[in-house]
Amino acid sequence: MALQPDSHSRKLIAIYPGSFDPITNGHLDLIGRASRLVDRLVVAVLHNQRKQPLFSVEERLEMLRKVIEPYPNVEVDFFEGLLVDFAARREATLIIRGIRAISDYEYEWQMALMNRRLRPEIETMFLMAGEAYSYISSQLVKEVIRLGGQVSDLVPTEVEQHLKQRIHGAQT
Ligand code: PNS
Repeated sequence: MALQPDSHSRKLIAIYPGSFDPITNGHLDLIGRASRLVDRLVVAVLHNQRKQPLFSVEERLEMLRKVIEPYPNVEVDFFEGLLVDFAARREATLIIRGIRAISDYEYEWQMALMNRRLRPEIETMFLMAGEAYSYISSQLVKEVIRLGGQVSDLVPTEVEQHLKQRIHGAQT
């Protein structure tokens, strides 16, 4: 079935989903890029009961709320269950995902096609993070902090404070 042309009067709402445990400068770079392309961007934290995150959903939302302050068309939310169902509830027609290196591609390709199968009316769009961020992941940032390394230029300042506090306690 051919896809129908979309109405131009409708606002373009996009979801930028992820674990954001915690948000990195790579995510923030993507938020900046995506916010310039759409009318409204919803940064959506996955609430996954089966995962043991470092930060609770509320803590992750709080950190996100702080760093999105400069972007008036960006908001934060969380979801459980299928991403495409959440997107539909938020009346979003676009899912934004970042691609860092080719190693991200296969996982992203599978998710995008599964999401398309579930709800063909929702498109996935991939944006490339700035090259300075192409190797950053929340996982690596947590490991570097755990092992006593510096992450000041990899995460927003408030996130660094939270990370140090959570991983090392109050001494830093
Ligand atoms: O930051 P992450 O962990 O790479 O984000 C992954 C996320 C949240 C985008 C993905 O796990 C997701 O969409 N989960 C919701 C469950 C879902 O919709 N699964 C079917 C699509 S493959």
